[in-house]
Amino acid sequence: MTQRKRIVAGNWKMNGSLELINQFAETIKTDLYPNVEVIFFPPSPLLSAMAGKGFNTGAQTVSEHDAGAFTGEVEAKLVRELGCKYTLIGHSERRTLFAESDAVLVKKFAKAQQVGLTPILCVGETESQRDADATEQTIATQLNAIIDKLGVACLQNSVIAYEPVWAIGTGKTATPEQAQSVHKFIRDLIASKDAQIAATLPILYGGSVNDSNSELLFAQPDIDGGLIGGASLKPDAFSTICASA
Ligand code: G3P
Repeated sequence: MTQRKRIVAGNWKMNGSLELINQFAETIKTDLYPNVEVIFFPPSPLLSAMAGKGFNTGAQTVSEHDAGAFTGEVEAKLVRELGCKYTLIGHSERRTLFAESDAVLVKKFAKAQQVGLTPILCVGETESQRDADATEQTIATQLNAIIDKLGVACLQNSVIAYEPVWAIGTGKTATPEQAQSVHKFIRDLIASKDAQIAATLPILYGGSVNDSNSELLFAQPDIDGGLIGGASLKPDAFSTICASA
């Protein structure tokens, strides 16, 4: 069986502070989890401070543009210069609250790779799409938007995060079986284009993961770790989640 990288990523969203970074530095010793890549996605102004404590860091989003007159945007190249290795692309909050279309996300994904960042592409269905039995179709559309434009080889250096929108911040976690079924669908879809890439691609689950449910989720054969929101703001809970991966 292929050994895939295990990843636990904490997406702080627009939360956190210098004080919280200090608390994490005291609690989380990443060398306690030698087989897990632990990555923090704090708000951009905290990236340097977080990296300064020795943590792996990533941006929550990057601009599709190169440096220029784009007030408020975050340049991918600069994020890389700050020592970040990763960036999220297409988190559902970016897709809905900031109207990021698949077309824009293709550009962001390509820009991230161009500057040496590994994109973590987020995909997931809404509750009404699940109720309408359109989960797989939704995910396929989101994935194919990237693959059709950039080619399947672009997934070689990337990570996928499956985050059902109905499970984000709601306390309604997908069951391990529900999550596994979508993860397998994602892996099979990619395997139909390139089996080797599919076999080695880390696919993370996100959506109300906590220190009580992470172990069972991470035990599923196609779940390679998690993208954690609320629980990534609590050092003790997050450390338990890391240990369970
Ligand atoms: O990116 C993480 C995420 O959206 C899940 O958030 O709070 O449900 O763990 P949460």
